[in-house]
Amino acid sequence: MNTLRLTGRDLDTAADILRRGGLLGIPTETVYGLGANGLDPAAVEHIFEAKGRPQDNPLILHIPSAQWLPRYCEDIPPAAYLLAEQFWPGPLTMILRRRDLVPDVVTAGLDTVGMRCPAHPLCREIIHRAGVPVAAPSGNTSGRPSPTTAAAMLEDMDGKIDGIVDGGPCAVGVESTIVDLTVTPPRLLRPGGVTLEQLRAALGEVAVDSAVTRLMGAGEHPRAPGMKYRHYAPKAPVTVVKGPPAAAAEYIRAHLEPGDGVICFDEYAPLFPGCPLEQLGPSTDVPEQARRVFEALRWFDGTRVKRIWAQCPDDEGIGLAVANRLNKAAGFHIIQV
Ligand code: TXA
Ligand code: MG
Repeated sequence: MNTLRLTGRDLDTAADILRRGGLLGIPTETVYGLGANGLDPAAVEHIFEAKGRPQDNPLILHIPSAQWLPRYCEDIPPAAYLLAEQFWPGPLTMILRRRDLVPDVVTAGLDTVGMRCPAHPLCREIIHRAGVPVAAPSGNTSGRPSPTTAAAMLEDMDGKIDGIVDGGPCAVGVESTIVDLTVTPPRLLRPGGVTLEQLRAALGEVAVDSAVTRLMGAGEHPRAPGMKYRHYAPKAPVTVVKGPPAAAAEYIRAHLEPGDGVICFDEYAPLFPGCPLEQLGPSTDVPEQARRVFEALRWFDGTRVKRIWAQCPDDEGIGLAVANRLNKAAGFHIIQV
């Protein structure tokens, strides 16, 4: 299949691909998504094929506004509208009770569905013109780091999708926050662009699913099925070093061997001359670290490094999301200094 390279001038073509049952690479403010008409089961099947995604991992439905929620969800709690008011359009996905209209292939047979209203203007316009809810996982091959540019998505999807709309680099850089509103108290299933602190300020008590902070054992079933899979991982094994940034950088320097690569904060790059290196941004600029983390992990697949050491922010704010992605890339192989 020839994958069309589209821009903001080709949004009718893009919407047409969705309406015809095709697959479209879509820019969002978090990461690029692999979109299809969420009401067309055959189109949604093709998403799973293109990604090599396990069938038991449900997809998020992308809608243009909270007004569409009652079309696809029932028993919608007031908290959903409160969160939509504050954080939509934006990087927040809510898990709600689904209506029967939503195809089983979207929800992997669950009685709930993830709903998100994205903020990227091109994405919003594509959904508006297509006039259908768009089912879209991140646009990577299953297991690989999520794409934050059109070029990164094409590395995985060129020839497998009908087209991709280039909307520039993603402004947030990590996927949406997922909060389950079908349980009491609401539960954070995946940290992302909307922070746990922001959710607690809006809702009061919010629980954190254990899959956010530790490795799931065999036979455990996290509430977000996707959280149990090895994810975001480059080919070389990753070790995360947590702690005060200077001490973590010094630990890595002391343990570095030939053939190792490093992901570090900008200030510490001079400690690693000649070493394959990706900079995450300044240690104090966590939003910049979120924008760079997936490209940093992806970059090493084009090198011959045998191991990767990574510095990591602490769990405050969007740091929780950056740390979660790095920890998952490392299979929770974490050294605390
Ligand atoms: O920012 C994002 O959310 C991006 C962009 C493209 O919107 N999408 C994204 O989708 O990250 P994906 O498929 O890569 O991750 C969705 C996660 C998976 O871990 C999946 O298991 C979980 O959401 N999920 C989806 N529906 C669910 C449901 N009904 N209950 C629990 N978890 C659900
Ligand atoms: Mg994903």
